[in-house]
Amino acid sequence: MPRFNEDLMTKAIITAVSGYVPDEILSNADLEKMMDTNDEWIQSRTGIRERRVMPDDRAVSYIGAQVVKDIIEKRNIDPSSIDLVICATCTADYILPDSANTICYMAGLSKAYGFDLNAACSGFLYALFTGAQFIKTGVYKRVIVIGAEKLTSYMNYEDRTTSIIFGDGGGGVLLEASEDEQLGIIDAVLRGDGEGKDFLRINAGGSLKPLNQERMDGREHYVYQDGKKIFKRAVNGMATTIKEVMARNHLTNDDIRWIVPHQANLRIINSVASLVDFPMERVMTNIDRFGNTSAGTIPLCLWEYEDQLKKGDGVILTAFGGGFTWGSLYLKWAY
Ligand code: UT7
Repeated sequence: MPRFNEDLMTKAIITAVSGYVPDEILSNADLEKMMDTNDEWIQSRTGIRERRVMPDDRAVSYIGAQVVKDIIEKRNIDPSSIDLVICATCTADYILPDSANTICYMAGLSKAYGFDLNAACSGFLYALFTGAQFIKTGVYKRVIVIGAEKLTSYMNYEDRTTSIIFGDGGGGVLLEASEDEQLGIIDAVLRGDGEGKDFLRINAGGSLKPLNQERMDGREHYVYQDGKKIFKRAVNGMATTIKEVMARNHLTNDDIRWIVPHQANLRIINSVASLVDFPMERVMTNIDRFGNTSAGTIPLCLWEYEDQLKKGDGVILTAFGGGFTWGSLYLKWAY
């Protein structure tokens, strides 16, 4: 197999970040009126105070298009200079077509094409590492990577163990080439294990179990999760891959300025930080206001913390989600 010579390749660096959440807030108090739950339980068990809800007539493509337009404006670049859009999502507007090409159309990207990538809550990590390869090999100059979800379309608000954590929103980054070897997307440990499909999934609506009345009556078109099972695997999966990516890049905690974890449950985040002995002051969180937006959580964090990120900061992104999928990615912030 011919291999690219790593030394000859450019780096893929993040040169802009943006995020989008809808205006409508679904608070814990709102949920109290819909099901047998309470604010105290939700906050103490998950760290979530509220989440956002997209309006009926907008979905993932709308989030993605807002993010792309904002990135283009911030970076002051020509929309026709974008080569590719990768949209990480498990709640695409439709099963067919994908959302990424709709995003290109809505954002006026006349020379781009796109594709969706579904790795549930790890989607942004998978997509970022994929997008970086197109830059590193010199195939493309500008790639936008999005993570966006409209999970409220798949919530059964009679299931208090699942519906309380999820919300809508997302974000994205622009990847460009750099000759600076010290910056950009450096390495990733990405994993998958299909055994996880029994513990987190939308049972009906795919090709194996097309929607019918019986399945809808059984609420099979909503997200089902075995929270306890996922909790343990998530903590272990994120902590293990953080250690692995750090070890093979000879990093200590002093080399890492920020850990950016998928926001599924604040207790999971605390446990991961504790297992890798990393201070919570340098762990990005915004789960209290947005809940779990699956592929959207990591870019939403980067967007909110953009002012605190400095050129050269060592950053580790880490995620765990349906599949199971998980992993950790090491990068150096470039601006
Ligand atoms: O994004 C990636 C995929 N998802 C995840 O990573 C989620 C991982 N899992 C979790 O975050 C947690 O497991 C949940 C937040 C989903 C659930 O928290 P938990 O601490 O595992 O609760 P549990 O399901 O073990 O339930 C504990 C108790 C039960 O009552 P009993 O049997 O002890 O009397 C539940 O019935 O809490 C009860 N309970 C609730 N009470 C009030 C469960 N949900 C609620 C609720 N409000 N919303």
